[in-house]
Amino acid sequence: MKIPQIPTHAPYSDRQRAWLSGFFAGMHTHIIQSAGSANSADVRLVHILYGSQTGNAESVANDAANLAKNHGLKPIVKSMAEIDVDAFAGMDYLLLITSTYGEGEMPDNAQLLWEAACSTGLPNLEHLHYSVLALGDTGYDLFCQAGKDWDEKLAAHGAIRLYERVDCDVDFEEPAQNWLAAVIPQMAEGASGTVIDLTAPQSDKPLYHRKNPFPAKLLVNRILTADASSKETRHYEISIAGSGLSYEAGDALCIVPTNDPQLVTDILTAIGCKGDEMEPVNGELMSLQVALQNLFEIKLPSKEFVQEIAKRSGDQELNGILASGDKEPLSDYLWGRDILDLLLQFPNSEFAAAEFLALLKPLQHRAYSISSSGKLHPETVHLTVASVRYDSHNRHHKGVCSTFLADLVEADTDVRCFFTPNKAFRVPDDDSLPIIMVGPGTGVAPFRAFLQERQFRNAPGKNWLFFGERNSATDFFYQDELLAMQASGLLTHLDLAFSRDQEEKIYVQDRMLDSAAELFAWLEAGGHFYVCGDAYRMAKDVDKALHEVIATQGQLSEQQAADYVNQLKKDKRYVRDVY
Ligand SMILES: Cc1cc2nc3c(=O)[nH]c(=O)nc-3n(C[C@H](O)[C@H](O)[C@H](O)COP(=O)(O)OP(=O)(O)OC[C@H]3O[C@@H](n4cnc5c(N)ncnc54)[C@H](O)[C@@H]3O)c2cc1C
Ligand SMILES: NC(=O)c1ccc[n+]([C@@H]2O[C@H](COP(=O)([O-])OP(=O)(O)OC[C@H]3O[C@@H](n4cnc5c(N)ncnc54)[C@H](OP(=O)(O)O)[C@@H]3O)[C@@H](O)[C@H]2O)c1
Ligand SMILES: Cc1cc2nc3c(=O)[nH]c(=O)nc-3n(C[C@H](O)[C@H](O)[C@H](O)COP(=O)(O)O)c2cc1C
Repeated sequence: MKIPQIPTHAPYSDRQRAWLSGFFAGMHTHIIQSAGSANSADVRLVHILYGSQTGNAESVANDAANLAKNHGLKPIVKSMAEIDVDAFAGMDYLLLITSTYGEGEMPDNAQLLWEAACSTGLPNLEHLHYSVLALGDTGYDLFCQAGKDWDEKLAAHGAIRLYERVDCDVDFEEPAQNWLAAVIPQMAEGASGTVIDLTAPQSDKPLYHRKNPFPAKLLVNRILTADASSKETRHYEISIAGSGLSYEAGDALCIVPTNDPQLVTDILTAIGCKGDEMEPVNGELMSLQVALQNLFEIKLPSKEFVQEIAKRSGDQELNGILASGDKEPLSDYLWGRDILDLLLQFPNSEFAAAEFLALLKPLQHRAYSISSSGKLHPETVHLTVASVRYDSHNRHHKGVCSTFLADLVEADTDVRCFFTPNKAFRVPDDDSLPIIMVGPGTGVAPFRAFLQERQFRNAPGKNWLFFGERNSATDFFYQDELLAMQASGLLTHLDLAFSRDQEEKIYVQDRMLDSAAELFAWLEAGGHFYVCGDAYRMAKDVDKALHEVIATQGQLSEQQAADYVNQLKKDKRYVRDVY
């Protein structure tokens, strides 16, 4: 069977599903070889499993399915939450695509399957041909750990690695495309099926995505916290009028920022460059100043940059930490230190322009959970963003994107943005079901959107919001709106936890425990439980409190409560948007 080559220049999907489905579905294809006699029983099945928190791995899985079809294969795409370990016994060909979350952990929808694979184990997999695509971010210590873990686990159970695992950094599209282009023809080898010509031209490419963001205008920049607050959180409204774009409550908007011009100037001074040095970047000749302003991460130091600084300075402490290979002392050392801090701290910090650029990572977009309903606000997207500002190492530091929005956007500035759908994080289809939303801090964002959505739909189901911040007088975001929703009956319960209004800390999980009986009753009535906000402390503690509520109110053992929670996850009634 002749298998056509996929053109390596073929454009690839970003996170937006539309592009991907459009890629193959919309293009002009023609059959170049038909296995006329092959009936559906002869067609080779390829299982495509994905573990995905915010949709990247899911989008690659959908691409994989389209491509597999075009190679005469029959793809079966499933989230890892949809299968159990026994299902592996029935697979002969498997593409496993997963991101990594938390600190080297599985994304939420892969977590239960992974736990089962570790505890009860997988069946014998000597019949299984597989390959893993791992999505991650080299900025994290445990890069692509979830993909690495699955790759090892499958091999340990005898599965045949048909193609080496590929680990993708933040710019995952091209390596993912290359992986698909290599692995799918291998999976199709020897199979009977209909092969489609992939060299036909493609059409229907969606206009806006990561590589081509929509140049939106910022309509509203309003501070939510009072002057006396210890924090600064802002409400933004961004116009998408005329873009043809739409979104759902639960989706995120990604913003592509530019860097603070003052930071660029300070870095140029520190490295001994003028800024007018011309350098090729992404095939284009541009000045160092322009490149630093627009295209490179100049705040968070890359590992290569830290290593170079350690080498040049010969600093004992830093070299000792690097030599130990221990991640924790290094992140402790780097906490609160940015690139400029390191340049200023050590001598020999002069760099030639090209040498400096080679040590930087590309400037990445930042994701924000949308705080409006696209039905109520089809032409604007609302965001709720905490401005990152802190003092350390004798300097004032500013988060790149949050302060780009807060300080740098003028009337004529384009706010370059694109959507990332989060299909797992949605209000229930059944409007009569109760929903429980736990969203302290900026975690309230998607729940404002959910409440607008439920209002728009006239959903009769009850709504319960747990919100928390530091002080009620200064940090009660959207106070008027939320109280009005409570008064109108839309918000059945609004439970507040202001952590610093009293001596001892009170958090949202304390409020959950205060209302344990009713919370359990809502779950028993088919309620959906949502969490948004800080992943590292809050979401873990809320999870613990949820187990406690279920154990005490359901009179269940620890194990039975864990089973109950796992069932909620399987039923997609316990979902999180945590960061
Ligand atoms: C799916 C998703 C949804 C999100 N939704 C929201 C949202 O709705 N609202 C929101 O505000 N954010 C949200 N975020 C977080 C957001 O994407 C950015 O990470 C955040 O705005 C910080 O970006 P920045 O560019 O301003 O800061 P960066 O330039 O990325 O700097 C942040 C870094 O600064 C350092 N730092 C921060 N504070 C301190 C400190 N006190 N001391 C020392 N060092 C410090 C840390 O290294 C930290 O990683 C979301 C993230 C994800 C993944
Ligand atoms: N890594 C860090 O040290 C750190 C610190 C702050 C924020 N962040 C990140 O910054 C982003 C924005 O934060 P944010 O402005 O939305 O607010 P946030 O920092 O999450 O704070 C919102 C509220 O949650 C409380 N809180 C703190 N620890 C908690 C816990 N374990 N359980 C429940 N509630 C807890 C805070 O109380 P108190 O502040 O009074 O404890 C505050 O009242 C998030 O991504 C967050 O992860 C990180
Ligand atoms: C809160 C958070 C934690 C993350 N932790 C890791 C990590 O430990 N290791 C890693 O390689 N990538 C990590 N990532 C990066 C994601 O794996 C990466 O962005 C991936 O493309 C997301 O794909 P998804 O949308 O399919 O979930 C993390 C991202 C976030 C937002």
